[in-house]
Amino acid sequence: MSDTAYVLAVDQGTSSTKAVALSADGAVREGPSVPLSLAKPRPGWVEQDPLELLESVRTALTAMAELVPGHVGAIGLSTQRESALAWDAKTGEPLAPVLGWQDRRTAKRATELKADHAAQVRATSGLPIDPMFSALKFEWLLNEIDPDRSKARRGRIRLGTVDSWLVYQLTGGFQIEAGNASRTQLLDVRTGDWDEGLLELFDIPRQSLPDVVRSDLSTPLDQPLPGLAGVALAGVLGDSHAALFAHGVREPGTVKTTYGTGSSVMGLTDHQVPGDAGLVETLAWQTETAAHAFEGNILATGATLVWLSEILGRPTDELAVLAESVPDSGNVNIVPAFSGLGAPWWDEQAVAIVEGFDLGSRPAHLARAAMESVVLQIEDVLTRADDLVDGRIATVLADGGPASNDWLMQCQADLSDRKVIRPAATCLSALGAAHMAGLGIGLWSEADLDGLHRRGDEFAPSLRPADRLQRITSWAHAVARSRMPVP
Ligand code: G3P
Repeated sequence: MSDTAYVLAVDQGTSSTKAVALSADGAVREGPSVPLSLAKPRPGWVEQDPLELLESVRTALTAMAELVPGHVGAIGLSTQRESALAWDAKTGEPLAPVLGWQDRRTAKRATELKADHAAQVRATSGLPIDPMFSALKFEWLLNEIDPDRSKARRGRIRLGTVDSWLVYQLTGGFQIEAGNASRTQLLDVRTGDWDEGLLELFDIPRQSLPDVVRSDLSTPLDQPLPGLAGVALAGVLGDSHAALFAHGVREPGTVKTTYGTGSSVMGLTDHQVPGDAGLVETLAWQTETAAHAFEGNILATGATLVWLSEILGRPTDELAVLAESVPDSGNVNIVPAFSGLGAPWWDEQAVAIVEGFDLGSRPAHLARAAMESVVLQIEDVLTRADDLVDGRIATVLADGGPASNDWLMQCQADLSDRKVIRPAATCLSALGAAHMAGLGIGLWSEADLDGLHRRGDEFAPSLRPADRLQRITSWAHAVARSRMPVP
């Protein structure tokens, strides 16, 4: 291993930008978290300020560099995915706000396109047509700022995701990391390059798009950031992909689950993900070879706990205590389809329901039902993902804020009948980018990284099979009820 002391990494997320430093011997130091604003100017619209995102990264990096006592060898970057930006090729000035990944302003256009192009787009990009992905957002942005596409065709407009924007501003390179590129819905997930048919469908001139590059490409900063002169940005990943990388997943068979407002279940796969699997296919990262992943995004997991804690007037961390105080949910189910259901159902018409009350139902049963809804939604995705690996998925790697709750982790192990491992480190996305950056410039090898892993806590399934079956069956009925057409 080199004598270089630290790799710095930044996780540029939707609500904040966080920095970490990883020393050559694996010690993790967390830096400041810079909060970010989110604007919702109209129903369904979600915007951020491109310059605020950039400034937050500069601030987080500079503050982190001041905190580490040693030399910085490389910088890694993980970013929120799918969010779309447009900027002026000459001045670098933003031409519009960031259209956030949650933005639904293109929902009508998505429905129109789905009628004739759903199968083609899914087969090429690995993704269903949906306002979440960048393609429809790029189209919307160009319709606003360059309706006839004349500027875009002459290369006067730059389109990109958050990683492209930050890399452009920090290094001058106009590029997009392969995993992030695969979330635009303009990439052929098999060839790893822009697809002419998709560019035509969404009316995006190729000249406005960045070059697709490897995740470990090393590009020197051309910004005078204090303490970071001459250091290269050497690892860029989408945040969910970065968490998978930080868990050390390099082969199909093990999946990671990120517990957040929603949840992302992701694992590597050698197989093409069928369109009816309820999961999407994506490039996880690209180094010497491309790693392909499946992903299932669940819309409301932590959000369900926040919702219930507000209704009960108790802090969220009390929900687990309440849930634990009863032996089961007393037949209560909460299906949190607040804005429809995501993976594996992808049912926009599903409605949120709370069912199964009797006169003995208490807040504790509701708390238990809410906690179990997190776990059971994840299990629904894992069950689909079982078909994509050889044999059943035996181990789930957990990360994200709610994963710090032991009761929730044990509940996942019990109701999934799978081992759950929670690593010691938090901030997995930033760590994954740090790992990629260190590998990229040869600071350490894959074997060195294995040595850096702190395995953390393990939760083994302990529920009786009959009890598990009964709970899973009750949940399945509740999901079916939430998806019943409203007369
Ligand atoms: O796909 C969207 C995801 O990448 C955003 O993650 O952590 O910023 O909410 P986060």
